[in-house]
Amino acid sequence: MGGASQDTIFPLQGQSLKVAGLFAGIGGIELGLHRAGHQSELLCEFDEPASRVLAHQFPDVPLFGDVRELKASHIPPVDVLAGGFPCQDLSQAGLTKGISGSKSGLVSEMFRLMETMKPKPRWVLFENVPFMLQLEGGRAMAHLTQTLGDLGYTWAYRVVDTRSFGLPQRRQRVVMLASKTEDPRTVLFADEAGERQFKDLPRKTAYGFYWTEGVRGLGWGINAIPTIKGGSTVGIPSPPAIWLPDGRIVTPDIRDAERLQGFPLNWTRPAVDDAKKRNGPRWKLVGNAVSVPLARWVGRRLARPGAPMTRNHKLLDGARWPVAAWGRKHETYAAADISLWPVHHKYKDLLTFLAYEPDLLSLRAASGFRNRTRKGTLRFREDFLHAIDRHIEMMSSEDSDTSTLRHAISA
Ligand SMILES: C[S@@+](CC[C@H](N)C(=O)[O-])C[C@H]1O[C@@H](n2cnc3c(N)ncnc32)[C@H](O)[C@@H]1O
Repeated sequence: MGGASQDTIFPLQGQSLKVAGLFAGIGGIELGLHRAGHQSELLCEFDEPASRVLAHQFPDVPLFGDVRELKASHIPPVDVLAGGFPCQDLSQAGLTKGISGSKSGLVSEMFRLMETMKPKPRWVLFENVPFMLQLEGGRAMAHLTQTLGDLGYTWAYRVVDTRSFGLPQRRQRVVMLASKTEDPRTVLFADEAGERQFKDLPRKTAYGFYWTEGVRGLGWGINAIPTIKGGSTVGIPSPPAIWLPDGRIVTPDIRDAERLQGFPLNWTRPAVDDAKKRNGPRWKLVGNAVSVPLARWVGRRLARPGAPMTRNHKLLDGARWPVAAWGRKHETYAAADISLWPVHHKYKDLLTFLAYEPDLLSLRAASGFRNRTRKGTLRFREDFLHAIDRHIEMMSSEDSDTSTLRHAISA
């Protein structure tokens, strides 16, 4: 195997690391790293609802606002600089302006800080959506990796699926690590469990899908919900729907959404100041967050790096960005044998995972979805369409209240 030369490898052993978290959101990275034994020294986040969550959940950690005003001198000495920089410009659902978009361009603030901090952090941890691997023919990734290489960093990234950690949410995210002194492959490529096979479905299986879609895509999840999103094309955060084995079409409770991301119950409660206020802001925050067990896995490996389980293939200019890769100045390798599944934690079936009574999908939402299914060329399971029709029928019957409905549908 090729690799970073030995003189760049100084593995850390079981250490508790100090972390500064930029673009901290509701602290998915932070909570995961804490659970791996590390500690936060500074948080930076300028969104008000997110900041309320951070202030409540991490009361002892200084919280800074706008990253553009954050100076290296504000940051105490840390081992890790972490940041899931804003993905709106990079995500399919967003404006697809690419790395130069005003929001994702904020990653340059991370570059500025990692270069000016004294001492420099040993590790820099990035997180983003996998669409950035494809956007503009891979330009976003080329920009990131070239900049890191030019600054003297060895980098590695891996796309990881949240289901790897047993949570029934199909969510893929790119985790990227860079260092001037350590070998990031010893963290990101030290675990490999192989693609998880979901051959044996439970007798009663729930299916997740996006009721906001239906023409070109569906976000179909078998025994899983599709990625919880921070927004949609129309900018409104919308929970995915679930087709339950009893026929009901529902949307999960926000507390289950938090759990589907690995957060404790009501983690985002401080985001809404009025108990009657709708949960839209909470959905957005949960959808933008990093799944906690993913960050915990990275954290555990940061504390105890292992031997990378990969072979390298030189990645040619213009080639598609693979699921995992690493490199340094003028060198880029695809990491063969690396899947989206570092580990296989015991899988929790979606149906039994849901702990809170879900809401029935509204008549308006269900009807809109059904209309969209008629417009496109997507093919759907007959029994699924039948369940949607039945749901619409039930919801539109004038004398039915929600409890009768529940009973009627599940009977
Ligand atoms: C993708 S989210 C990160 C989510 C976070 N990793 C988590 O687990 O919740 C990006 C975050 O960057 C924040 N952000 C955007 N521009 C910022 C700025 N100029 N200064 C500080 N934070 C900013 C957004 O408010 C958002 O919460």
